[in-house]
Amino acid sequence: MPASILAGYATHYGSTREVTEAIAEELRKGGLDVDVQPAGKVRTLDSYRAVVLGAPLIMYRWHADARRFLARHRKALARRPVAVFALGPTHVPHDEKEWSDSRAQLDKVLAEYAWLKPVALELFGGRFDPKDLRFPLNWMAGSEPATDIRDWEAVRAWAGKIRPMLAG
Ligand SMILES: Cc1cc2nc3c(=O)[nH]c(=O)nc-3n(C[C@H](O)[C@H](O)[C@H](O)COP(=O)(O)O)c2cc1C
Repeated sequence: MPASILAGYATHYGSTREVTEAIAEELRKGGLDVDVQPAGKVRTLDSYRAVVLGAPLIMYRWHADARRFLARHRKALARRPVAVFALGPTHVPHDEKEWSDSRAQLDKVLAEYAWLKPVALELFGGRFDPKDLRFPLNWMAGSEPATDIRDWEAVRAWAGKIRPMLAG
């Protein structure tokens, strides 16, 4: 089995890429060789022994690049440890209903991939900035306040937890 771990991500506005990089950094501290790549650019998993896949929930769905990644690499993923995370909630103050809705969205998405048995699954808070939005989203949500509730401690703790599951 190859030694590297793929940390694949999908993103619209960049926050999931930054979370993926933080996870990769933490895994590397544990001696793992980690390759961070946009999920949509990955052609083969041959050189990876395990995969971390992260993507944001957007409009009640998971980013299309993450869904395409699962479909394209189904066979290879079924034979490797896969850890999955999503970014979703952005509200300040903490909104329990928002978190449970996001969790339900993520569970619904993953139910479409019943063959996928993630070794770990996590939902993280995300970042929202109305300046990133284009029409018509800026028209619908452009007056919402900017927030960034990414919990870097929780992200790093999760990376530490999954490290032995990916290391083999
Ligand atoms: C237009 C838009 C729609 C969103 N829809 C959802 C959603 O349906 N569920 C959810 O949990 N989060 C939703 N979010 C929050 C995003 O998941 C969050 O902003 C995330 O950090 C974005 O990731 P990215 O920067 O990697 O694109 C939405 C955000 C935006 C801007």
